[in-house]
Amino acid sequence: MKKTHLFLILLAPVILLPLSNLLGLSGENEPIAVVAGSSPSFAKVSPILQNKCVDCHSPGMTRMPIYAQLPIAKQLMAKDIATASARLVLSKQLYSGEEKFTPLMLARLEGALLNNTMPPNLYLSMHWADRLGAEEKQSILTWIAEERAASAWSADSTPALKGEPVQPLPLKLDLDAKKVALGDKLFHDTLLSGNNTLSCASCHSLTKGGTDQAKVATGVRGQQGPINSPTVYNAMYNLAQFWDGRAKDLQEQAAGPVANPGEMGAQWDDLIEKLKQVPDYQSAFTELYSGQGLTKDTVTHAIAHFEQSLVTANSRFDQYLRSNDNSLSANEKAGYELFKVNCASCHTGPALGGLSFEKMGEQQDYFKLRGGPLTEADNGRFNVSKQEQDRHFFKVPVLRNVELTHPYFHDGSVATLAEAVKIMAQVQRGKNFTADEINQLVDFLKTLTGEYKGKLISQLTAEDIAAH
Ligand code: HEC
Ligand code: HEC
Ligand code: HEC
Repeated sequence: MKKTHLFLILLAPVILLPLSNLLGLSGENEPIAVVAGSSPSFAKVSPILQNKCVDCHSPGMTRMPIYAQLPIAKQLMAKDIATASARLVLSKQLYSGEEKFTPLMLARLEGALLNNTMPPNLYLSMHWADRLGAEEKQSILTWIAEERAASAWSADSTPALKGEPVQPLPLKLDLDAKKVALGDKLFHDTLLSGNNTLSCASCHSLTKGGTDQAKVATGVRGQQGPINSPTVYNAMYNLAQFWDGRAKDLQEQAAGPVANPGEMGAQWDDLIEKLKQVPDYQSAFTELYSGQGLTKDTVTHAIAHFEQSLVTANSRFDQYLRSNDNSLSANEKAGYELFKVNCASCHTGPALGGLSFEKMGEQQDYFKLRGGPLTEADNGRFNVSKQEQDRHFFKVPVLRNVELTHPYFHDGSVATLAEAVKIMAQVQRGKNFTADEINQLVDFLKTLTGEYKGKLISQLTAEDIAAH
């Protein structure tokens, strides 16, 4: 197609649309009433979303102005609706308040509002009336904070900070101490590998932030793995396990490395026989898993139960969230403010991540920046879903204790936290942070180091870990 033609066709909506706006030719939806019992804030917010976001975020409910029937306009809109709905679907149930917005949806909404990205500028150039006013924006932000305040996650936050995108980790856990101890023992036992050389802790050392602090993992007989070991601390907050989310939970995950020839290189049947030779295991499994005894299912259950105890509460940042006191320096607070605007739409919740899969390179091609050949592991979520739109998507890593979990990213290609922050700002946000901004963010991230067994995990020794 000639450029001029394309230009005219693209221009058509620009001319037709304001006309259709003036003439009142846009389709309208029946307003959806909010259900009884909804908060006054939500009653204010719902009509705003219904009026200003529905065209792209509610497939099937798009108001159809006349220009939208034009072939190219129709295609453009279909594309907008598809990309918009991949991020946020505003259903009738959400508009009415019958369904609650998830913490992830709230975080994405907050991110879009703080960055003034929605509705998109191109759309606003045609629907000038749909720009969000300052008051409307404030109403939505207030409602987001109220929703968070009402959730169990913020129970321990001081009232003034209950609306934050990050919540403190719980100080008390409701777990079976005997199963935790059994899982702990298994986690540290080299019997779990085929040649009795590796335990889970070899790659997830609790004194090294729950990782091996190596670029990629090293399996039995020194085999180099394809990907960086993520932390086991706070892994229970992940929506699924592994960078690509291929295990649905901790128990399913625990079955993987044992039988992986590149990792622990064992066979489950052999392993169960080996464990049965150990009287302590026999008696513990008989006592704690009556009727089942020692099986692959109970072994992985005990390990997963132990992993649920790896919650690193009481970081300095949590102390701040719980009491709003002076636990943070001015620099750290400035870093948190930057984090809220630039990072919390993905790194949200008590673990600052783990709630979604996101593209590595949202705004800029990360893999080009990194250089080197693309590996299969670089495909990320695509390897599981085989959907093209999931290529280079990874589970958002938790950022708790991130000062200890170096090197960074799925490929372990970045050695320092400052460099990781710089790259995140670049490829996820399209921003070049100043050295000061990077320092502030790093200072903030370092306040996320928490405790395990009553000690800061940066100070844990092998003796602390062995002590029960
Ligand atoms: C013209 C279509 C259009 C309209 C109208 C629109 N959006 Fe979007 N929205 C998109 C597209 C396209 C994306 C995905 C790409 C992006 O994030 O820029 C998106 C993404 C989002 C996201 C996800 C951001 C993230 O972190 O990934 C949120 C939240 C959002 N929109 C909120 C809104 C709100 C609130 C409104 C109404 C005030 C609105 N949008 C109106 C097209 C639209
Ligand atoms: C040889 C090193 C190695 C051993 C041994 C090992 N892991 Fe891992 N672990 C890894 C690597 C590498 C990954 C990431 C793999 C991927 O995402 O494809 C991982 C991922 C995980 C995850 C997922 C965390 C997340 O954020 O997705 C958990 C949980 C975990 N391992 C627990 C265990 C347990 C339990 C054991 C023992 C049964 C174990 N690992 C043994 C290297 C190892
Ligand atoms: C669009 C979602 C998104 C945004 C926004 C985002 N991140 Fe990330 N972040 C990710 C994903 C996905 C990864 C994992 C990428 C990979 O390993 O290839 C990640 C990884 C990281 C890591 C490495 C963690 C580790 O254990 O390897 C750090 C540190 C980090 N992000 C910090 C930030 C900071 C700081 C910001 C804001 C400047 C930010 N992120 C913004 C999605 C996001």
